Amino acid sequence: MKQVVEELQILPTAEEKAACDLPRISEEVNTGKQRKLYIESYGCQMNFSDSEIVTSILIDQGFDTTSSPDKADVVLLNTCSIRDNAEQKVRNRLVQFQAIKRNNPDLLVGVLGCMAERLKSKLLEEEKIVDMVVGPDAYRDLPRLISEVDEGNKAVNVFLSREETYADINPVRLTGNGVLAFISIMRGCDNMCSFCVVPYTRGRERSRDAYSIVSEAKQLFDQGYREVTLLGQNVDSYKWSATSGEEQVNFAQLLEKVALVHPDLRVRFSTSHPKDITDDVLFTMKKYENICKYIHLPAQSGNSRILELMSRTYDREWYIHKIDRIKEILGNTCGISTDMIAGFCSETEAEHQDTLSLMRYAAYDFAYMFYYSERPGTPAAKKLVDDIDIETKKRRLNEIIEVQTELSYQRNQLHVGQIQKVLIEGYSKRSEDFLKGRNTQNAMVIFPKLHYSKGQYVYVKIKEANKATLFGDIVEGYQE
Ligand code: SAH
Ligand code: SF4
Ligand code: F3S
Repeated sequence: MKQVVEELQILPTAEEKAACDLPRISEEVNTGKQRKLYIESYGCQMNFSDSEIVTSILIDQGFDTTSSPDKADVVLLNTCSIRDNAEQKVRNRLVQFQAIKRNNPDLLVGVLGCMAERLKSKLLEEEKIVDMVVGPDAYRDLPRLISEVDEGNKAVNVFLSREETYADINPVRLTGNGVLAFISIMRGCDNMCSFCVVPYTRGRERSRDAYSIVSEAKQLFDQGYREVTLLGQNVDSYKWSATSGEEQVNFAQLLEKVALVHPDLRVRFSTSHPKDITDDVLFTMKKYENICKYIHLPAQSGNSRILELMSRTYDREWYIHKIDRIKEILGNTCGISTDMIAGFCSETEAEHQDTLSLMRYAAYDFAYMFYYSERPGTPAAKKLVDDIDIETKKRRLNEIIEVQTELSYQRNQLHVGQIQKVLIEGYSKRSEDFLKGRNTQNAMVIFPKLHYSKGQYVYVKIKEANKATLFGDIVEGYQE
């Protein structure tokens, strides 16, 4: 499982994408506490980061964690609603838990996260084995909700807050590799992309206290972590002001504060919105070597009419201008990735071709690619017709994947011959004689281990590249 966990970064290769579809589960930690928690998380990094907050809250309440639902007293599923198949996966999992519950009737089964928020108490009726439904802003209430279930009741809290950021809660890191960590810097989303369920499941956008973010980054560095990823649905609209009102911190300023924690602490961030990313952010990235030269800038479509129907609030030209600015300020080697949706309502063949041509223009290093899945209650579900048949959606998606495969291969060839700084994340999947780590652009590099180990920076001469991975050798004593 550790392997999967490590691959759940912003990882864009086909192989790693498959890993992202797997849930992330809690580890076995036995300190002799009374009850055992098993937590399984689906969806995005924000959800994984929330599971670390939930674990922290419950460890304080007398829980140890387990990696096996059979040994648990409390089983929590932290769920995702982004596409229909994400919800289907959780439903199938709940059926499996039914069997465990038959052998252990005292087992408490709770649903957390976006599906809990979307379906609310309907989940208790639809899925008869669920005892507890808890939305993303109600995790502080978990101890009370669990006692409620202990007393024989069902428990629900799906209240969405305008303030909750869990700023004071010290997450229990579940990633296990001790090198990379995620820091949530904001919650919710105020954009209203017409296809998207997130504003309904995560509530209004709010930014976390900048100083609590910096001190979390410092603490992680002191514990040996060497890379943090700042997380939010739309990090560029981060905005926090001290209660005194004197100081306001925007995303570029936050990025700088975190970069200054230590030059050996790498900083990444996700997700950037094309309408909000500023030149200031790009110049801050340029100024600090430890801010990784990689931007996840989801386009969703390359056609202006479709972008308008999606309510993305930018058009093709605007997006192209942002790509040009990135390349002007940070150079052609800055890594760029995207999310693309195939077969959105009323998309024509020519409009689909616009998506392929935009991908070629941007020359993405990686992409997350999906076909459109209508989500109940979203503006698209209410106002537009989901009229592209599934075969066409899948065919267009395959064409998008084909173009990206070619682009990833070409982009990876650019690294061949270079000497690049790599942060070692651990052993390679196939052999303990090899290590793996990423370059600043987020591409995975594999090399013979010599006497090095995870958490160290090394310089690697890239000898070869395929569409997913770079291969090379450490250059000892190299100085930039
Ligand atoms: N906040 C991020 C993305 C969050 S969701 C952003 O604005 O880019 C992650 C990705 O899931 C989206 O970028 C989109 O490509 C995809 N997605 C969201 N809703 C979807 C839907 N209804 N059908 C298919 N893909 C969807
Ligand atoms: Fe969804 Fe759009 Fe918000 Fe991203 S920015 S979470 S796609 S509404
Ligand atoms: Fe899924 Fe919720 Fe994240 S819908 S993608 S878990 S914000």
